[in-house]
Amino acid sequence: QSFRRLEYRPPVYTFGQVELDIALDPARTIVKSKIEVLPGNSFEPGAPMVLVGQELEFVSLRINGEAHRRFELTPETLTIHSLPKEGAEKFTLEIISICVPEKNTSLMGLYVSNGNFFTQCEAEGFRKITYFLDRPDVMARYRVTLQAPEAQYPVLLSNGNLLKEEKLPNGWHSATWEDPFPKPSYLFALVAGKLECIEETITTSSGAKKLLQIWVEPHDLQKTRHAMDSLIASIHWDEKRFGLELDLERFMIVAVGDFNMGAMENKGLNIFNTKFVLAQPETATDADFANIESVVAHEYFHNWTGNRVTCQDWFQLSLKEGLTVFRDQEFSADQMGSESGRAVKRIEDVRLLRQLQFPEDAGPMAHPIRPDEYQEINNFYTVTVYEKGSEVVRMYQTLLGRDGFRKGMDLYFQRHDGQAVTCDDFLAAMADANGKDLSQFKNWYSQAGTPRVKVDGQYDAANKQYRLTLTQSCAPTPGQAEKKPFHIRLKVCLITAGNDQVEQLLELTESTQTWTFDHIEDRPVLSINRNFSAPVNIDFEQSEEDLLTLLSSDDDPFNRWEAGQKLAMQMILNNRLPDSALINAYREILLDPNLDPAFKELALTLPAESYLYEQCKSVDPQKIFAARISFRKELAKQLQLEWAALYQQNQTPGPFKSDAINSGKRALKNLALSMLLDADPKIWAPMARNQFQIADNMTDRYAALAALVMHGAKGAAECLEDFYKRFADDALVIDKWFALQSSRPPVEGLESTLNEVKRLREHPAFKLNNPNRARSVIHVFCANNPASFHQADGSGYAFWAESVLALDPINPQVAARLARALDRWRLFAEPYQSKMKAALEQVAACQTLSPDVKEVVSKALGI
Ligand code: ARG
Ligand code: ZN
Repeated sequence: QSFRRLEYRPPVYTFGQVELDIALDPARTIVKSKIEVLPGNSFEPGAPMVLVGQELEFVSLRINGEAHRRFELTPETLTIHSLPKEGAEKFTLEIISICVPEKNTSLMGLYVSNGNFFTQCEAEGFRKITYFLDRPDVMARYRVTLQAPEAQYPVLLSNGNLLKEEKLPNGWHSATWEDPFPKPSYLFALVAGKLECIEETITTSSGAKKLLQIWVEPHDLQKTRHAMDSLIASIHWDEKRFGLELDLERFMIVAVGDFNMGAMENKGLNIFNTKFVLAQPETATDADFANIESVVAHEYFHNWTGNRVTCQDWFQLSLKEGLTVFRDQEFSADQMGSESGRAVKRIEDVRLLRQLQFPEDAGPMAHPIRPDEYQEINNFYTVTVYEKGSEVVRMYQTLLGRDGFRKGMDLYFQRHDGQAVTCDDFLAAMADANGKDLSQFKNWYSQAGTPRVKVDGQYDAANKQYRLTLTQSCAPTPGQAEKKPFHIRLKVCLITAGNDQVEQLLELTESTQTWTFDHIEDRPVLSINRNFSAPVNIDFEQSEEDLLTLLSSDDDPFNRWEAGQKLAMQMILNNRLPDSALINAYREILLDPNLDPAFKELALTLPAESYLYEQCKSVDPQKIFAARISFRKELAKQLQLEWAALYQQNQTPGPFKSDAINSGKRALKNLALSMLLDADPKIWAPMARNQFQIADNMTDRYAALAALVMHGAKGAAECLEDFYKRFADDALVIDKWFALQSSRPPVEGLESTLNEVKRLREHPAFKLNNPNRARSVIHVFCANNPASFHQADGSGYAFWAESVLALDPINPQVAARLARALDRWRLFAEPYQSKMKAALEQVAACQTLSPDVKEVVSKALGI
């Protein structure tokens, strides 16, 4: 079944007040709803009301207090006929139904994790709790009463403000919550169980006092400080940058160990994967600290961009996600504390976009940031909707300036606060607030695929002119053979010896355009798409000499990094080793006292295999792996002295700090360590073992362990065992232990990682039902370990098929994510391609596939 954007119809009925009475029992939770129903925008007298419900046991239905018998039930719907006054006037609907949280392994709707109750309703999980108009354009006011045995479930939470708590007979108790803001059902949440919280009271811009709480299992309480600090920083930042204040008396975050995604922005009651809440220096890496900061911010920012103004329908998902990712990226960039720190953050974001989103945009699941069609909405929580969506929002800011962007945001809230709206509404607010015509900009919402901009630059020495011709194109994507030109704005700069570098913004709106620059005294070096001002591929045959110039002297740090990446990429793809010119340029960067260690680490990290694949017509994964490894080894050997010195210079003694400066130093130091093991494992492995033993923080301990494991160095096995014993009780650290072993590339003399992974799957601590654990073994192997996964005998693909089929009945969302690992099969050379296709066909042949996996594999196969 396929859903189409253009088939949107406003709701026939809508809801006013909703009262939920929920008696929690893992085996049999009774949900009573009392709903005020009103005619909706496409109401016609006599229209039946169609509610959705899944995996529910229907008990009873009343209308205006009377039992009502004119209804039909199907496994997915409850259709009610003969409504009072033909439905034209307000009436009350009362439904009783039952669900079974302990059997719910999909982790959508109401489920049990480690004995506690949690919900996940976005996108369509609320229908697994009760029959409802489970669509985002139906916004209601909720009052929720939770009942449960007090000893087992001392804490009862839902959205909004706590109205009252009561003792009930037989050791039960209840809590009643009221959310003052109307909301769609996907923002509903409840939590019940043995949890404890840390709390803070803060004063927001209006002078109001607000209570902030972070709820976790009692043994995790000491790991919540960083999340709390991140929340407070987010609240202040949103006031300062966008004038947006927290609108509730109380804001809660709850951590849960079983969760499909990162986190969820339920109104006033955010629910998080523990991975994005819990951190202590001993157990979390710098990357974990940074991710927590950004996810806490992301969910908090949704309170305005997502909750106060929500989506009309799920095709508009990027309206809230692209915008909120943009906001969290800007927040994290500001938290870096310097201009150079902002650049580091930008490089990291773009690297992720190109490693994950560009392949998606070139593959069988390619879709515009506002898709036109889906079979299962859960499959559209993608890097395209999120990360490319954020790039599109960033382009408004590039065009309108920060102030113009802010004006657009202000108008957006002025017009749409409390409404469920569309991407077009957002664009209109940006356009109207700035008096601009943004009609061509709409193509970014409607067309999939990464645009390609071909660059032709000619210097005319006689006339002292530089002529720049840009030609844009975009390859066909599923359902879109022809593309209209995009509105692409590119920051460019002509770099000439001795002259000041003046940046310009070029607006490419036609297929081809030419710009002429006058009074250019010497042949310039073109620096184009600076700071990655547009999410496009630049097709430019720039000489190595020019790229070296940019690498050593472009004043745009992004393009400086980019030049190095391009040089390395070209050499790797041509199976060349770094030449002395490149080695010298790298050396200069490493020795430059004015550059951030974090920047150096990024500059010296080679392009990922997944990005290299996208540059090829036909991928031989083993060849690319071998070329990349040789390139890296050479870099390691040629700069061995520098790596050794950097290792010493970038130590971070004293109490642990997770700030940008210190984490940058650790990143560079640990890259140096890994390079040293590349250069000579015999000499340097003892230093890695020593770092592993003496480290007082997870970043250093894990990096040392990773260096040993990745190189198959002496002591790796002992350290792995030591690590497991030290952290056996800490699920998130044990996830790292699994993930590290699953991500080891092939090493000569060691057994295949696939065999290792199969053993890990039998480990007593492995749990297929827990998404974090399943991902740390299976997804990491299939999606983040290309050289081990892509074996010519197809054994990796067979493992993939087996795993998708094992996961699907348990958790379709997690299975469908894994299924995406074979998306790019057509890009591969033989024998890989045929073997991938066979594995896809094997999965597609299963008769009982979920809609989630079915959509992914059938689109991959083009059926
Ligand atoms: N809205 C959440 C976020 O981006 C993601 C929730 C997605 N959940 C899902 N089951 N598809 O913060
Ligand atoms: Zn989000």
